[in-house]
Amino acid sequence: MLIFSGSSNLILAKKIAKELGVSLGELEINTFPDNENRVRVIDKVVDKDCLVVQSTGVSPNLYYMELFFILDSLKRSGARSVTVVMPYLGYQRQDHIFRSGEAVSLEVIINILSALKVDKVISLDLHSPKIDELFKKHKIEILHLSALSVFAEKIKNMNLPDFCLVSPDMGGIRRIEQISKMLSGVAYITIVKNRDLSTGDIESGKLKGEVKKTAIIIDDVVSTGKTLIEAAKLLSKKGASEIYVMATHGIFADDAPKNLQDSNIKKVIVTDTLESTKERSFEKLEIISVSRLISRELSK
Ligand code: R5P
Repeated sequence: MLIFSGSSNLILAKKIAKELGVSLGELEINTFPDNENRVRVIDKVVDKDCLVVQSTGVSPNLYYMELFFILDSLKRSGARSVTVVMPYLGYQRQDHIFRSGEAVSLEVIINILSALKVDKVISLDLHSPKIDELFKKHKIEILHLSALSVFAEKIKNMNLPDFCLVSPDMGGIRRIEQISKMLSGVAYITIVKNRDLSTGDIESGKLKGEVKKTAIIIDDVVSTGKTLIEAAKLLSKKGASEIYVMATHGIFADDAPKNLQDSNIKKVIVTDTLESTKERSFEKLEIISVSRLISRELSK
């Protein structure tokens, strides 16, 4: 198998390749002065099974276009099959019509992937089970991995006193049930969150369950950080004094790094599905890798 990487998360792609004992294939990715991209595959890929690693979270428009060109170059150059590892799948939160007149952005992306004859997509902690269905509808095989086992291991190693797990919204119930099971049925609570769809603002929600002094909020993605900050405020009000966050994808948009650093959250732990940059970093942030999780799956 030949592994190629787009420019969104070279560090993770290199780790995966290293764990599989191969080196990354050669691609030429140039940007013209008007910001258009040109992609060319250097390696011979005729009749080869190829894998492309590209995260499409931060700067999704840029990284999706780059990915489409990489896929086209591989297919045109004779690749037998192309699997895309998208550790973070951009536009996944727009998977259906929320308000009339909206585009279903994720379905547009899947349509393009299907037109480019992608054979398989591997991604982590997708926002909703509906996403798998959308891929299947377009006859693209999808492998949906989860970082929950990595978080469960991390929690075990933290040796925390009595704690509860928290889902910051009703959409995270399945996730919280799964990780609770991995931790021998640890107690969990759920927050009922209300988000204003036109502004993205979150009104403070209600809690279902008993709050312990130590609370770990589990989420799929941190974007503006508003969900977590509001959840942490509510948990503090109800008696939690040490609040941790574990989320698979750290987008950290807008002022999220500063707002999370200034919040009452003790530590924000995310995985490396999105490459960390200086601007999106902050002291309370810890990053753990999902490279092994992905490479183990690829070597099956
Ligand atoms: C929402 O349903 C998701 O699970 C996340 O909680 C949400 O997308 C995080 O967004 P933000 O950080 O902007 O509040």
